[in-house]
Amino acid sequence: MKTRVAIIGAGPSGLLLGQLLHKAGIDTVILERQSADHVLGRIRAGVLEQGMVELLREAGVGARMDREGLVHDGFELAFDGRRERIDLKGLTGRTVMIYGQTEVTRDLMDARRASGARTFYNAAEVALHDLQSDRPHVTFTHNGETLRLDCDYIAGCDGFHGVARRSIPTGVLREFERVYPFGWLGVLADTPPVAEELVYAAHERGFALCSMRSPTRTRYYVQVGIEERVEDWSDARFWEELKRRLPADTAASLVTGPSLEKSIAPLRSFVVEPMQHGRLFLVGDAAHIVPPTGAKGLNLAASDVSTLYRILLAVYREGRHALAARYSEICLKRVWKAERFSWWMTSMLHRFPDTDAFSRRMQRAELDYFVGSEAGRTSIAENYVGLPYEPVE
Ligand code: APR
Ligand code: PHB
Repeated sequence: MKTRVAIIGAGPSGLLLGQLLHKAGIDTVILERQSADHVLGRIRAGVLEQGMVELLREAGVGARMDREGLVHDGFELAFDGRRERIDLKGLTGRTVMIYGQTEVTRDLMDARRASGARTFYNAAEVALHDLQSDRPHVTFTHNGETLRLDCDYIAGCDGFHGVARRSIPTGVLREFERVYPFGWLGVLADTPPVAEELVYAAHERGFALCSMRSPTRTRYYVQVGIEERVEDWSDARFWEELKRRLPADTAASLVTGPSLEKSIAPLRSFVVEPMQHGRLFLVGDAAHIVPPTGAKGLNLAASDVSTLYRILLAVYREGRHALAARYSEICLKRVWKAERFSWWMTSMLHRFPDTDAFSRRMQRAELDYFVGSEAGRTSIAENYVGLPYEPVE
């Protein structure tokens, strides 16, 4: 079997790249380890930067998002019993779109199916070969059969635990990592949101976040120790803890209900350099992870996709083959800035075990300073709505 671009992974990165390339007439094959239902069963973030919104429209998959997504002009920071609004639109002229990653993935899967482009779900033993040659290939098994896919390029869109990054010989990549000493316990519920916009709350007992998927579906989080087990968190215990971390009037208006999903996610910052090797490009979570504070994970995957897509267009339409070597350098500029913002938001808003009273006062002063100054609020806002995509030239 032959294609132009072999895409490993049918998460948002792989599907979005596949859709953009399909629209441009560039053939792709997607290989995904799991079933489509399994991929759709994962609950992930739900805030889209304008750059990603525009990219989804460009890919021809923006219609349902534009109908059902919620445009938010701001968000709130809660601390010391008060709520302070960051006016994204007023400060930057830009907004964010509330639309779940699950829905983005579903729209992309529907578009791929309609396009007739080839996708192999339940593809096992995916292995990458001859990355340094002009004709790399991928082998995998499907329904008990071993198959070979020849291609020009491979896009490793297979997430943090995928095979693509691990296929690069040792010594080539440099890894940068920070593991945080806590996780987020998340609950999805069919309840009306406690506020019109997202509320990020810093509290002595730990961080909390009030988010939403729609006017009738909410997603709430509380910071928990890494040793915590989800079985130990009844719905009642979760709601009680969330309320304690919110300003009193916010807690009083919180509507609780049975959880539809409950899970704990660890927090990590991670980047590999470079994000490519020979004919393989690493895209999205395969190359970098951010902690969820600031909602940058999915958006950063989208900016990688945009960069790779524009490079491949120049390669195939204008014969600019040398541009491919610049993928990593172009992506990493934006990746590190998003890493910085996610790390900074995480550092400022969470309770770190074993930090002294002085450090806690510094955290609080930093928050107070940033929300109290227009320069500070603008800095938060321009990062939250998303820094500009790096030009490909
Ligand atoms: N072979 C084939 N597919 C694989 C393999 C493999 N060896 N390993 C992993 N995959 C698949 C996974 O099953 C998953 O569906 O690759 C896909 C990777 O998808 P994601 O983890 O969602 O990563 P990505 O598409 O880069 O999405 C960006 O942003 O909000 C964050 O972490 C969140 O998933 C989100 C990410
Ligand atoms: C979410 O809705 O799941 C969400 C929103 C904002 C974040 C992280 C997660 O920063």
